[in-house]
Amino acid sequence: MTTRATPVQALILAAGKGTRLKSPLPKVLHEAAGAPLLEGPLRAVRAAGAEPVTVVVGHGADAVEAAFAGRARFVLQDPPLGTGHAVLVARAAIAEHPGTLLVVNGDLPLLRKETIEAVLERHLSGAAATLLTAQLADPGAYGRVLRDDHGRVRAVVEAKDASAEERRVGEINAGLYAFETEPLLEALDRLEAGNAQGEYYLTDVVARLVERGLPVLALPAEDPEETLGVNTFEELATAHRALVARRLRELMLAGVAIEDPASTSVSLHARVEPGARIRPFTFLEGRTHIERGAVVGPFVRLENTTVGEEAQVLDHCLLRDTIVEAGATIGPFAHLRPESRVGRRAKVGNFVELKKTELGEGAKAPHLSYLGDATVGPGANVGAGTITCNYDGAAKHRTTIGARAFIGSDSTLVAPVRVGDGAYVAAGSTITEDVPADALALGRARQVLKPGWAKARRDRDDASKRHG
Ligand code: UD1
Ligand code: CA
Repeated sequence: MTTRATPVQALILAAGKGTRLKSPLPKVLHEAAGAPLLEGPLRAVRAAGAEPVTVVVGHGADAVEAAFAGRARFVLQDPPLGTGHAVLVARAAIAEHPGTLLVVNGDLPLLRKETIEAVLERHLSGAAATLLTAQLADPGAYGRVLRDDHGRVRAVVEAKDASAEERRVGEINAGLYAFETEPLLEALDRLEAGNAQGEYYLTDVVARLVERGLPVLALPAEDPEETLGVNTFEELATAHRALVARRLRELMLAGVAIEDPASTSVSLHARVEPGARIRPFTFLEGRTHIERGAVVGPFVRLENTTVGEEAQVLDHCLLRDTIVEAGATIGPFAHLRPESRVGRRAKVGNFVELKKTELGEGAKAPHLSYLGDATVGPGANVGAGTITCNYDGAAKHRTTIGARAFIGSDSTLVAPVRVGDGAYVAAGSTITEDVPADALALGRARQVLKPGWAKARRDRDDASKRHG
């Protein structure tokens, strides 16, 4: 940790359209590892102790502000005329806190707080500006860092404005800067947009400061992967993979058994406790939480779902906004839809679908069922093929099954309906009226028996063949 008397303020640039994504969604709201791109730089500057944090928004400003409400101050840049212009529109906010200012591009999802701290530390050795840079084999569309014969930073030139020789420079500008506010604002006031993109480039400030004889420093990133700026879907996918790999590494170090990291995906908002086991081809999305001793997978997708201690989610299950309590078993091939809860040691087996349904402790629905808008009491047994008819074509209705009730196979429970505690429903019943506790309900046609009928028919058939 760096120790500074006054915290450094930060400005995150997030007004750009993301033209290269060709998408109506503002670029910084596109997700990698289940979190919007802006989440990365915002978390990183906060973790490095920056305060206050201001975000410049423009394209899709309302959506960006809504997604990050309460987590930063917002300044509107409308229309966005370049990264230098973005800093200028925040002038009033910046001027409240003289001293050092961190400026971070909003499309750097892999940025870590350690790197921000390292840039600040170098900067505080007496620079007017300090840039994070990276040495890349393929510097592509990034701005190039130009140095003089003594290796001192001289300028940053955008790829689109660079000469062929300048484009061969492998050191790129990452889009993370520390500035002294006063000389920065002075240089920005004199910025011009006479370049290939007709924009006010923040990067032009570097040459201006150097011309004034002010020291500009550069810190090459230890791991160039961290400086990935996302402009295309290919880069978004690279960021996703890198963030997931980083998170899986942390989890494994913390004691989570991840059998096959290459086929496993985990969102930045998910929590997995030590002692859990994640089997191959498993996707832990949103605010999923896996408790210790739980086993999930293979081929499972969980969205905003909690899996309790020692619970198991077996092969090929999809669970969304669901709570699975300790020791319960789900699957294989189960679909648990939002607002479902499976109680302790309960069981949801093959080809069972739940929707807004609660199973009490130890309750079972082991095979082939649809349970929607239902409450199943503790210890109840729901036989194979049971269906709650929760929808009458206009409205949804609830089914309540009491504690230790037994629903025979292939029953349909026409909601709204209640089956009392300890009651039995005979197999193949259609239940349209409430069943009192401890009663037996039969809701099927009585069986008809015709002794000898089959043999008589065979005999008749055989006789007609002989005579035909
Ligand atoms: C920028 C840098 C480039 C660097 C690269 C690193 C400039 C001129 N160039 O290029 O040197 O190598 O990042 O990834 O700064 N934004 C605004 N307002 C605007 C324009 C952009 O807020 O008017 C925001 C964008 O939302 C984005 C960030 O600034 O988060 C960077 O903009 P982008 O257009 O992606 O810049 P690059 O071309 O990648
Ligand atoms: Ca960019």
